[in-house]
Order: sequence, then C-alpha cells, then structure tokens
Amino acid sequence: MTAPILRRLAVLRALTHEWHKQGEVIGVVPTMGALHQGHLSLAEAAKAACERVIVTIFVNPKQFNNPEDLANYPRTEQDDAKKLVPYDVDAIYVPAPDEIYPEGFATTVSVSGLTDVMEGEFRPGHFDGVATVVAKLFLQTQADRAYFGEKDYQQLMIVRRMARDLDIPIEVVGCPTIREASGLAMSSRNQRLSNKGLAIAAEKHRIMRALVQALEKGEAFGALAPQAQADLLTAGFSNVEYLQLRCAETLEPLTHANRPARLFAAAWADGVRLIDNLSVSSG
Ligand code: PAF
Repeated sequence: MTAPILRRLAVLRALTHEWHKQGEVIGVVPTMGALHQGHLSLAEAAKAACERVIVTIFVNPKQFNNPEDLANYPRTEQDDAKKLVPYDVDAIYVPAPDEIYPEGFATTVSVSGLTDVMEGEFRPGHFDGVATVVAKLFLQTQADRAYFGEKDYQQLMIVRRMARDLDIPIEVVGCPTIREASGLAMSSRNQRLSNKGLAIAAEKHRIMRALVQALEKGEAFGALAPQAQADLLTAGFSNVEYLQLRCAETLEPLTHANRPARLFAAAWADGVRLIDNLSVSSG
C-alpha cells in the first residue's frame, strides 16, 4: 500500500506530534520528486535508523534560477508514491504551495561563505532557495534526522551549517552517491539525456576517477587539471563550468590532497547540466 500523501501542514503536525509523544524518532528525506535509486537509498537509510520516515516532495521554485529548468523539471507524484512502497515510509508530504510560501512570504535563509563558490557561483540565488525551503521542511516535519545524498555535496554542507547556525534540533546525515553501472551519478536530470548524452555523461566519472588516483599519489591539482578539462571536452562535454579540488570539511580550495578532500565538477552534456563529486583520500 502506498503511504498517505499529506498536503496540509496541520495534518502533518498532528501525526508528528503523536509520533514524538510515543517517543519515536522521525527521519525526513527532502526531495523534489522524480525519485530514483539515489532517493530510495536515502529512504532505506532513514527507515533503518528511525521509527518513522517522512519523504517530502516539493519542486521548489525559489531554487531554480532558470525558468525553463523549473518548467521542465519532471513531476511524477503517483509513480514516486509507488516507488516508495517497498521502503515502508510512513508519510509522503507534498505540501500545497501556500504551505511553503504563503501570501506575503518575505523571509530568506541565506548561508554565507559556503554558498559563494561552485554551484553558488554558477547558479546565483540557488542556495538561498534551498536553505529557505529546507529550513521550512525541517521545522514543519519536526524531524530528528534528515537524509541527504553526497551527490549534492555542497548542498549537504550548507544544510548542515544552516541547521547548526539556527539551532534546529536535527541531525543531518550524508549518504553515498548512487551510480549507474556506467559510473554516472543518479540524478533526476539524467532522464533528459539521449543515449548519446548518457554515453558522454558516463565519461565524466572515468575522467574524474583517473584524476582522483593521481591526486591520491600526491600530484598537484594544478598540474593535472588542464588535461582533465581537455579530456572532458574531447569526451563531448560542451562546457566545463568548474573542476575543483576542495577541502571536504570547509570547501576551501586545495592545491594537493593533503587532507580529506573532494573533487568537484560541473559540465554540460547534450544540453543538460551535470554535477558530480568524488572523495579524495589524503594518503
Ligand atoms: O536536493 C534536492 O532535491 C533539493 O535541493 C531539496 C534538498 C529537496 C530542496 O528543495
């Protein structure tokens, strides 16, 4: 049976109040729908650690800086509910738009520093939209734990910072990126790739892996990056927006993987913008 789909905050609140009264731990998996194995792995992790799990589905207009991207974003609520059946989640919260942004809504949650680089640089305003909606979803669901994929690693760090800074009593749990057999990181945007685009996209993982191996041998990022950029273009990417090595904790740029690091990339294949990141050990 599909989990109940709740559209009103008052109904959600009545449930979560009851669950907390029973001493149950609530986990939340915030999503924008178009669920794939990556999201489902978050639901599974939440279910393994929490008595109650809420999956939220809300295509958040405030985090899209391109109206076409918002219009094209897949909306597949009934399919999403079916996909969640094996994970036995307790509720699917699909808030009516006025539950998130009521008439006169005037507040923005903005995290400084971590949002200035990478996605923040190429998608101005994106992280303000994410931080604002996630703060609301944390407060609305009253969850004790929230599950996010490392696929959006910068988002994960920003959400963690935001929850800490605002004293929202929630543990933000990061879960590993789920990949296709080709290595392509699962993403709702992959649905828009043609077969040719999928083949190009898979090359990104191969090129990034090779770069990680060289970095883990102690080679300098600056000496390796130009060739990796060229390899991405040769593979068929039309534009490499960034390829960067950063500290896994603070996201400061690094010249060498001399502490736990992350390699980040954003590039366009077949008209679709794809991001990915890999962990780099410090040896
Ligand atoms: O990662 C996403 O799908 C979205 O950014 C999130 C966290 C659900 C906020 O809208």
